[in-house]
Amino acid sequence: MVLAVTGFKGGVGKTTTAVHLAAFLAHRAPTLLVDGDPNRSATGWHRRGGLPFTVADERVAARYARDHAHVVIDTQARPSKEDLEALAEGVDLLVLPTTPDALALEALLATLEALKTSGARYRYF
Ligand SMILES: Nc1ncnc2c1ncn2[C@@H]1O[C@H](COP(=O)(O)OP(=O)(O)OP(=O)(O)O)[C@@H](O)[C@H]1O
Ligand SMILES: [Mg+2]
Repeated sequence: MVLAVTGFKGGVGKTTTAVHLAAFLAHRAPTLLVDGDPNRSATGWHRRGGLPFTVADERVAARYARDHAHVVIDTQARPSKEDLEALAEGVDLLVLPTTPDALALEALLATLEALKTSGARYRYF
């Protein structure tokens, strides 16, 4: 299973969601969290907290991918439409977190609009 957590809005819980999804999947099979955000929030969380799965940034993730049944990709906010479509093509499911406020919902709608033509499988919550 390959999941990516993404969206146009910053600060809506992408990293938190990615970490919790990876922890859930790690109960079932070896799981890799790819930290694709230049802020490296998930990497910092792993360093401080000792998360029960592998965390690697996108530059070295390929080295670890074959040893893991599940891959969860955390991304930075505001990917380009092109990046979003490429991401959608490479994963089984896109996860689009949002907070329940007008600005975040507006960004979610823009994300969905950008995905419209991609044929991507996604869930938002
Ligand atoms: N389900 C939740 N309920 C309440 N607070 C949450 C929840 N998920 C995340 N948060 C809080 O929201 C803030 C932003 O979360 P997080 O860093 O995961 O967002 P992000 O989308 O990855 O941000 P960025 O775009 O900067 O990478 C953090 O303070 C986090 O603790
Ligand atoms: Mg983040």
